[in-house]
Amino acid sequence: MPNPFYGKDIVSSKDFTRRDMEYLFTAADKLHNLSPDQRMKLGRGKVASLLFFEPSTRTRLSFEAAMQSIGGQVIGFYDTKGTSVEKGETLADTIRVVDGYCDAIVLRHPMEGAARFAAEQAEKPLINGGSGSEEHPTQSLLDVYSILSEKGRIDGLNIAVVGDLKYGRTVYSLLYALANYRPSVQLISPPQLKLRNEVQIDLGDRLKTTEGEKLEEIIHEVDVMYVTRIQKERFPDPAEYERVKGSYVIDLKLLEKAKRDLVILHPLPRTGEIKPEVDFTPNARYFAQAHRGKGLRAALFSLILNEDVSLLE
Ligand code: NCD
Repeated sequence: MPNPFYGKDIVSSKDFTRRDMEYLFTAADKLHNLSPDQRMKLGRGKVASLLFFEPSTRTRLSFEAAMQSIGGQVIGFYDTKGTSVEKGETLADTIRVVDGYCDAIVLRHPMEGAARFAAEQAEKPLINGGSGSEEHPTQSLLDVYSILSEKGRIDGLNIAVVGDLKYGRTVYSLLYALANYRPSVQLISPPQLKLRNEVQIDLGDRLKTTEGEKLEEIIHEVDVMYVTRIQKERFPDPAEYERVKGSYVIDLKLLEKAKRDLVILHPLPRTGEIKPEVDFTPNARYFAQAHRGKGLRAALFSLILNEDVSLLE
């Protein structure tokens, strides 16, 4: 199979096929076993720009560590303070300029549609590192890779997605990515934070989903629980946030009702929805999930930047 990622933008999980994703996961596994010399060849002489218009810890640092791990370099900003954005430079101009300094761009931006727009402005491949409440496609690649690593399959699994399904961009990307497989998905949220209608329209009948509110009622049948943070910063009305904050708290008591081999994932950061006491159970796999981000993003950079990736096939 020719490398499907070479020179490509990564804007939405809707653009991936199951074969694309599995090609990337194989590349990530292979990359892990390369000698340092072989690995360094994949990024040598290449530069990635990381343009972060919103806070980030994992996405930014794992992309940065990923590029360095394949011998490449990173430039960018993580705060618009001190950049020409403060003087009123448009996103289009910033992208067009940075495009000339690098081989790939990673953009995180508070507005939906920003990544698609920026990808149209850039000649170099553009990776969406989070676009408002819309999508976060590399997180979903990491989430699917984590489920496969933990469970060995996705088809036939019962996956609960819990929390802020309205504003959580990782949820949208995850559901689009899961639609390439055959799991059952239970969407658990307060009524005010139900999934936006657009996703149901996009997915049609490609993904089996049910909606509910009570996690205690379904926890016993769940194989993978994907927990999300209530996205305080995206609520148009702070009073609305006050009404739903703390809706779900995963603690040891709740886990008494769970399957023994339940896998708990979370894109992180968490803000109280998983109690620290859960970290010490074998079910807690969210830190392992975050750690996989570096290798997976290194594989993604390698595939985007090199046409010939025979070492990774
Ligand atoms: C997520 C994000 O930025 O959307 N974080 C991440 O990239 N792992 C999740 C969140 O902020 O809640």
